[in-house]
Amino acid sequence: MSERGTRYPGPIARAGVHPHSLIAQGFAEDAALAALLDRYPAELFDINLYDYDDEGQVSLRTGARGRLDGGQLLEAIQQGRLWVNLRNVETGWPELWAAAMAEFRQVEAAYPGLKAVKNGGQLILSSPKARVPYHFDAAGVVLFHLRGRKRIFVYPGDEAHLAERDMEQVVSRQTTEELPYRLAFEGDAQIIDLEPGQALTWPLYAPHRVENLDRFCVSLSMDFQTWPSRLRNGALYTNAVLRSRGGAPRPTDTMGQGELTLRWAASLGLKRMGALKNRIAHFERQFEPEVGVTDGAGTLKV
Ligand SMILES: [Fe+2]
Repeated sequence: MSERGTRYPGPIARAGVHPHSLIAQGFAEDAALAALLDRYPAELFDINLYDYDDEGQVSLRTGARGRLDGGQLLEAIQQGRLWVNLRNVETGWPELWAAAMAEFRQVEAAYPGLKAVKNGGQLILSSPKARVPYHFDAAGVVLFHLRGRKRIFVYPGDEAHLAERDMEQVVSRQTTEELPYRLAFEGDAQIIDLEPGQALTWPLYAPHRVENLDRFCVSLSMDFQTWPSRLRNGALYTNAVLRSRGGAPRPTDTMGQGELTLRWAASLGLKRMGALKNRIAHFERQFEPEVGVTDGAGTLKV
């Protein structure tokens, strides 16, 4: 298929797989991961447990870092049904980050016109049966897959799958990154099975979800901003403010560069003024990882 998978301009028109060499450098081996989990700051962990009903609607429980040592935590992830995210890899594991940035430059070079101005990353360790719900990222993403197998579903970035009203809510932090999802979307997905040594990227903002294929998985999710993504995120933020004040802003995909730039500039002032309060609730922790219990989710020990 050659048609664009997004209504937004940009050099990445469809999801695409690229090779990388991060595994050969030993980053995804048990010993390295256990040592990393031991030293990683507790406040940089997100530990999630996702459940789905028959309609594919997600419910989320969040976990605390708990008191397991690195090796035990790794074992709990490998046996359980957990999704563990280590934020700020750029400072948390500089050696991996340096190697990943070198790989990123090669992916970037494969798309003429693609120019990242800011990169960040998170290392994701997830259980054999973990599934990540339908969402979008307000950034470009390169997912470097290091271990296990996972199936990525990438959906069209059109208004039906990714309404701008919902994007505004996410960009202005009025909600988490989850989008309304319907089973009927499944016929529209581009499906990619990722193997270790492969990296996947997709059109900016394209909605996606992930299913692990019965193996413990390790991936580095690198996000990046470009000038076009910054301008559009700013325009979406300004539109969110206008909408919250009763306005009916035009969708950003009908705006030219000039108008996007004006709305981005406006967003800087609006953010400084605190025009919209961050409404993302602080999640109440409901469990902590434990070895040998259902889902790897043990009782919270305060
Ligand atoms: Fe994502």
